[in-house]
Amino acid sequence: MKILVIGSGGREHALVWKIGASPLVSKIYCLPGSAGIAKTAECVALDPLDITQVADWAYQHRIDLTVVGPELPLTLGIVDEFQTRGLAIFGATKKAARIEGSKVFCKELLRKYNIPTADYRSFSEPQAAKDYVRQLTKPVVVKADGLAAGKGVIICKDNAAAEQAVTLIMEERAFGAAGERIIVEDCLVGDEASFLVFTDGETVLPMVSAQDHKPVYDGDQGPNTGGMGAYSPTPLVTPELTERIMQQVMLPTVKGLAREGCPYKGVLYAGIMLVDGKPYVLEFNARFGDPETQVILPLMDSDIVPVMQAVVAERLAEVNIKWKPGAAVCVTLASGGYPGSYQKGQVIKGLNKLQSMDNILLFHAGTNYKNGSWITNGGRVLGVVGYGLDIPAAIECAYKGVSNVNFEQMHCRTDIGKKAVNYLG
Ligand code: AMP
Ligand code: GLY
Repeated sequence: MKILVIGSGGREHALVWKIGASPLVSKIYCLPGSAGIAKTAECVALDPLDITQVADWAYQHRIDLTVVGPELPLTLGIVDEFQTRGLAIFGATKKAARIEGSKVFCKELLRKYNIPTADYRSFSEPQAAKDYVRQLTKPVVVKADGLAAGKGVIICKDNAAAEQAVTLIMEERAFGAAGERIIVEDCLVGDEASFLVFTDGETVLPMVSAQDHKPVYDGDQGPNTGGMGAYSPTPLVTPELTERIMQQVMLPTVKGLAREGCPYKGVLYAGIMLVDGKPYVLEFNARFGDPETQVILPLMDSDIVPVMQAVVAERLAEVNIKWKPGAAVCVTLASGGYPGSYQKGQVIKGLNKLQSMDNILLFHAGTNYKNGSWITNGGRVLGVVGYGLDIPAAIECAYKGVSNVNFEQMHCRTDIGKKAVNYLG
């Protein structure tokens, strides 16, 4: 089979690595890919948002299956475009991807189908939103309706902060058209987990659970980033809780989407807040998470390609996914200044050493290769993934890998996975 992966980050490198390991695959392409991904896949220098051109390319190259990494091509309708041409593609349609692309759509669905989530109001007029937040007596979270690269969520400690958030999103349009509407929802306090499933629109198969680390500094301090690391599985998500999340969240969401006329196929990712052990949906993503994918796929024992084919062909009920025992930990190595402004072009040293280390995987998120050297080319530069029989062993392995890598102003969190150790007591 010839497979095309859309995207260029650490998540896509992990996808290319896992898909490329399948005996069913004869050739793998990545569009646009990256210098790091080019070691495993042939990169295609096209714009993933030009969905007509991407579909033309896939048609001309007789691609058997296309897998979409990021959300933007999905919300632009890449899956619909491929489907009208009879090309197999793994991902959510434009209508179904609204579950990520519109928080108002997502919250209305959750409310209608009685799926646990924070209580909320939605607004399309800034004045009405301000009047509402002024009289609140509880902390809230203000969220831009549309996609804002993970930045459109503002946790407000008091009413003044909430009013400022309304101004920023709806009047100043800090996130552009994403701020035409907003959600104001109750602030939940608890532990977060990422829960991802494969679904063909009817059957829902869970992946191993994970936990992301969004704030830039140790102890969850500092501004949020795209993800400074992750680990899997999280001890918070016990088998009983998995069953509860499946019954109360994932299955009713997939059923609800079908009933609303937008059947969902692909990966559905729930950001869950556990409050007193009960799951509440913070958000849905219509795709694999990053960095979660960098720890989930190394734990997947089964070949991923037949699973994706079964999703596309709507026969996931025939599939059984096996997971490896043990744990994986991913530490993101970031450029100095990230998530603010940062420099590119720093020479990365030590990558060769990682190749000879056991139980270590290296995923490139933002690198380039010039004049015989790897250089930094993004805020999140590399994901170093360690595997171990348990979380402490995986942490040790990941940081042993990290200790070999270096570039000017490199920074990373030193506490990835520590929460899991604390949960385990
Ligand atoms: P979202 O993109 O909606 O998942 O929000 C990004 C981050 O904001 C989440 O990972 C949480 O850390 C936080 N967050 C979102 N909604 C809430 C909420 N209702 N209560 C507390 N924290 C939240
Ligand atoms: N890890 C968060 C995300 O993929 O959106």
